[in-house]
Amino acid sequence: MTSCGNSPKQDGDLRSCPWQEIQPEEIDLNPVQMIDGDWLEVSAGKEGKMNLMTISWGTIGELWNKPVFIVYVSTSRYTHQFMEENDCFTVTHFPASMREQLAYLGRVSGRNEDKVAGAGLTVEFTELGNPIYAEADLAIECKKLYGQQFDASLMPAEQQAWYEQLGLGIHYMYIGEILHVWKKSPVAPAAQLTAADPAQYQSHNPENMQRVRDFLKKTGVYFLATEDGDQPQVRPFGTAEIFEGKLYIQTGHVKNVAKQIAANPKAAICAFDGSEWLRITATLVEDPRVEIKKAMLDAYPDLRAMYDENDGNTAVYYLKDAKATLSAFTHEPIEIDF
Ligand SMILES: Cc1cc2nc3c(=O)[nH]c(=O)nc-3n(C[C@H](O)[C@H](O)[C@H](O)COP(=O)(O)O)c2cc1C
Repeated sequence: MTSCGNSPKQDGDLRSCPWQEIQPEEIDLNPVQMIDGDWLEVSAGKEGKMNLMTISWGTIGELWNKPVFIVYVSTSRYTHQFMEENDCFTVTHFPASMREQLAYLGRVSGRNEDKVAGAGLTVEFTELGNPIYAEADLAIECKKLYGQQFDASLMPAEQQAWYEQLGLGIHYMYIGEILHVWKKSPVAPAAQLTAADPAQYQSHNPENMQRVRDFLKKTGVYFLATEDGDQPQVRPFGTAEIFEGKLYIQTGHVKNVAKQIAANPKAAICAFDGSEWLRITATLVEDPRVEIKKAMLDAYPDLRAMYDENDGNTAVYYLKDAKATLSAFTHEPIEIDF
């Protein structure tokens, strides 16, 4: 798996293109729902010569010790030519509101019209030059490992008859190693924030923020310390997610921790992964927006047993002016400022 850092090209303000790289195992969509229910776009090609089409057949999993996504593309599709000519392909998932555009992209052919323009999509190119879309909420970039047409003589009679009846070109199977996965937080575009909105705050070092978030995620549980009058308090926490360039944690207003943060927003976090420990100091800023609460609960669906974004209890805070130190017995402390 190629390491992080190869984010898609992002112009200007991060908030306008809030892609976050995640690991394949962090894809939180049910694979059957994502592929067969929601549909996906498969795209191949480079800037100036690319095509995309809707798919509802696909497989995500593991092969040859690599995370893989497999797509099935009929030779009758214009996209097939691009799958053959290029080393990579991407698979993109879109919000439900884009269903009509996905139906269009699965009805018309790029041989006859500009499908990107027809669907009103904004193409972005990854550092490897592969197309993904600003409107998508999940993008999976794959390197072709294997491509082969199904052998009709080995198919069940039902499928053989199906191809003959439809006169459809027999599908190729393309097994792609998943190189990168990016997701976008389902939150309001930052452009809609007003200048008075406290959530305008942005990390000055998104890479460090990602590193901190990944460490917290890896440990599963970290400890959040707050001040209760003159008495420090500490408790285990599990939420840590980046939305719109800010690292958020979550709790409930009814809890003492929320009351302590309201009285003094300065907090400290400590996490230990078995060999290194991370200590963070920050000011916690509450973000009242429902969309951020929803994004957090969507990222941690188990929390929905206790919380709802509209329950008046859910509280989300981002870490402002954070400083982190990564320590171990084997190396000097590393300052990670974000
Ligand atoms: C919901 C849906 C799912 C589809 N799934 C696939 C698929 O998995 N494989 C395939 O070859 N075609 C599939 N198609 C058909 C192609 O998307 C369609 O033929 C498209 O117009 C091809 O475009 P192109 O000629 O620009 O490549 C699907 C279409 C729809 C609407």
